[in-house]
Amino acid sequence: MCGIIGYAGKNQAAPFILDGLARLEYRGYDSAGVAVVGPDGNLKIEKSKGRLQVLRNKTEDGKLVKGCVGIGHTRWATHGEPSDINAHPHISMNGKAALVHNGIIENYIDLKKILSENGYTFKSDTDTEVVANMLDFYYNGNPLETIRKVIKMLRGSYTLVIIFEGITDKIYSVRKNTPLIAGLGETGNFVASDIAALVSHTQNMYLLEDDEITEVSAEKVSVYDIDLNLIKKEIFKVDWDVKSAEKEGYDHFMLKEIHEQPRAVRDTISSRIGESNEIILDNINLDYEYLKNVERIYILGCGSAYYVGVAAKYAIEKSCGIPVEVDLASEFRYRFGENTRKMNPNFKGASRGSRINKNTLVILISQSGETADTIAALREVKKHGARTLSIVNVVGSTIARESDDVIYTRAGQEVAVASTKALTSQLSVAFLLAEYIARKLGFAGDFALIDALKKIPEQIEELNKSENKIESYAKEFKSAKVAFFLGRGIDYPVALEGALKLKEISYVHAEAYAAGELKHGPISLIEDGTLVIAVATQDDLYEKMISNIQEVKSRGARVLIITNEGNTSAEEAGDMVYYIPKTHEILTPLLSVIPLQQFGYYSAVARGCDVDKPRNLAKSVVVE
Ligand code: G6P
Repeated sequence: MCGIIGYAGKNQAAPFILDGLARLEYRGYDSAGVAVVGPDGNLKIEKSKGRLQVLRNKTEDGKLVKGCVGIGHTRWATHGEPSDINAHPHISMNGKAALVHNGIIENYIDLKKILSENGYTFKSDTDTEVVANMLDFYYNGNPLETIRKVIKMLRGSYTLVIIFEGITDKIYSVRKNTPLIAGLGETGNFVASDIAALVSHTQNMYLLEDDEITEVSAEKVSVYDIDLNLIKKEIFKVDWDVKSAEKEGYDHFMLKEIHEQPRAVRDTISSRIGESNEIILDNINLDYEYLKNVERIYILGCGSAYYVGVAAKYAIEKSCGIPVEVDLASEFRYRFGENTRKMNPNFKGASRGSRINKNTLVILISQSGETADTIAALREVKKHGARTLSIVNVVGSTIARESDDVIYTRAGQEVAVASTKALTSQLSVAFLLAEYIARKLGFAGDFALIDALKKIPEQIEELNKSENKIESYAKEFKSAKVAFFLGRGIDYPVALEGALKLKEISYVHAEAYAAGELKHGPISLIEDGTLVIAVATQDDLYEKMISNIQEVKSRGARVLIITNEGNTSAEEAGDMVYYIPKTHEILTPLLSVIPLQQFGYYSAVARGCDVDKPRNLAKSVVVE
């Protein structure tokens, strides 16, 4: 999604901004732009469709756009096609204000009408240009007052970073439901949509909240509340390793991150397992008194995080016996939203009122901690009194801050759009959490599971070493137009993730099915040569999987089976077999997903796809 950076300092702004935008490229974008306030006080803008390099060439790496305060943007189109005109920054009709925007202004049509009636005309199809003209229309010489007035009229989500004509030393910003942080540097100060844009310049940040308006100059960052009272912010120290934003010799971030998984899982679990395999989740507050009353657990997330939830459901239900529902955050929020019908207050029977209440534990899973639908679901369940626990990678992100408890994955910065190390780290936390809850509830600990978990990092290392086997399969099937992934039980979410990896970066139509569903429709799609990847790691379901594999094979499918070492009967059933090392059966997703990530990656490479910047996708989806 859109990336934003703003700078006010002693140096030229544009080269710095272009550098920051390069660090945000991973988020996915279709055009880029930069604007500065020139020494003469006039606003200057350069923007272009396509990769950042086009803008770099056009501006000689920013040297042609002179000024010490500026704003930059990478756009992921929502309103209006990707084009030079629709790219940000947008400038107001009279040249008084220019801004960049992340999010969606929902009432822009109404606002546009008011502006048109007052003589304003528009060049672009964007909702953003409307805000630029609103600032122009209401400008009274005081930027803070003007911004305050305008944002009170906006509906939707926005991070706005603004420069004004004649103000050569300051930039302004505000957020609502989309991320924004401020960075405190030595030769200037910054704002950005993402910590990644700033870590190479400073570790000292302010985490900004909704409706806080910032005024940034070379000397300081002043933060005001909506009534323009100055607020004192605490400095948040970011301990990210700058190297995580470099490829370090790998061809792609995705491959680097696949290889980082042993480290990511190790860092995530090591300090949370004690010498006698006790589970140490120090800063979460789930005790027996609370857990014994939990009637239901909901797990919510989007994309890969949702699939982690599906795997966690199997683990929690098996180890704790509490019913677990997993839902896509985007769907869930409307099942329990404000518009859910209220019960008739005169009805005296058993209350089937809100199924979400203080005895509901809601677990939210998110790498970025900024996914709009997951944030909205979190806020919704809090209104109903649920207890919330999040599993998040980005420290200090919105979901982490707003949930009652947070367990951080320690994957480090994940740059590739296709999630890999974040997913295995989330799985590790989910399995630890399942065991933690079970023990708190008084079940005997499954110490074998914890022993097995400790071995996972080295087992992933082994799988990474044998990736050439998967690479050769990927090359063999590089012209496949379609692929099916099958699994049962906890293998099913792995199949879902495998299909997602393949489709999102290789553009192969890939579908995953719970293998028991095959005969209810999908099997009609199997033809001679159709690629089927079957995950079969669960002992009690193995024979059933083999039967399902026979069914697709006898209709012409070519089948790759991912199974446990020792299951040699798979050789007869499938065309290709890939063995994963033995582990506890709950933990198999941590291993079986690795060859599927590799298959997605090497298929994309074999097809010549842009692995780290897949078309139309964004790393962090901050609009609904
Ligand atoms: C995007 C990313 C996915 C990710 C999903 C949820 O679609 O491309 O990789 O799984 O968002 O993101 P989150 O940050 O909430 O985990």
